[in-house]
Amino acid sequence: MRECQVVSPASHYLAGDLGERAFAEHVVDDTVARHGRVDILVNNAGISKHKQIYHMSADEAEQVMRVNFLSCVWTTLAAIPIMLRQGSGSIVNISSFAAKVAPPRETIYAASKAAMNAFSEGMWNDLAGANIHVAIVNPGPIDTEIWLKEDEPVAFHGRKYPPELITQAIFEVIEKRRHELTVPRRNPPLLLARFMRLFVPSVLRAALARFDPVPREVLEKARARAREGKRLGDLRDD
Ligand SMILES: NC(=O)c1ccc[n+]([C@@H]2O[C@H](COP(=O)([O-])OP(=O)(O)OC[C@H]3O[C@@H](n4cnc5c(N)ncnc54)[C@H](OP(=O)(O)O)[C@@H]3O)[C@@H](O)[C@H]2O)c1
Repeated sequence: MRECQVVSPASHYLAGDLGERAFAEHVVDDTVARHGRVDILVNNAGISKHKQIYHMSADEAEQVMRVNFLSCVWTTLAAIPIMLRQGSGSIVNISSFAAKVAPPRETIYAASKAAMNAFSEGMWNDLAGANIHVAIVNPGPIDTEIWLKEDEPVAFHGRKYPPELITQAIFEVIEKRRHELTVPRRNPPLLLARFMRLFVPSVLRAALARFDPVPREVLEKARARAREGKRLGDLRDD
């Protein structure tokens, strides 16, 4: 924050849980109260939930959707009237390449990001003529702390790109009024995965199953829990 205040003394922050609608709306309202306007809204908050679906509780799934998707809906719905009053605004949604190709153990994360992308695309239609620009940034693997917070081991050991690529992409979509950027751009593995998803999905499914196979004991334990009448994510006695 101090670094921001050097170049922009009026910078401020709010600490709270964006998975709660009241706080998400408050972020927008507080910004208007302090600064009089909201020119740019970047929906960046996100949590990963890297785990087999057999280990996923309904509460965890709901939490991911609240933080990754609904927070973006709540801040956006609060910001649109402000931007309409101003006559302009930009909304940038930080999604994920997982919205395009769901990796193993990313079921609910990928769903939350795909929902964010569909929500953004819908606004391209509904906000036409309002001078409110909506952009999607789909990061690939970026070297941030999110990789240290994973619930289960990650099969991906490829290159992770610097976070600066994402800040540059955010500036680019705003300044050039671009609608969607996937970063890193023209990256062969991401392009190949996207191509396979679109044109040879069965080959992609086979490749992902080999890349991070479901361990046999995970499936066996899930079956045993199912026989006991337990819900998914109920890992007692494991
Ligand atoms: N890194 C990647 O490889 C990658 C790839 C694709 C997409 N993304 C997306 O990029 C965005 C930024 O992630 P990152 O890589 O920078 O991960 P990160 O280092 O874990 O940062 C996540 C950010 O979200 C905030 N956040 C999480 N839950 C929140 C909540 N309930 N309320 C308010 N803030 C919350 C965190 O705040 P606190 O630190 O205060 O918890 C943190 O600032 C996310 O949307 C992520 O899904 C990242």
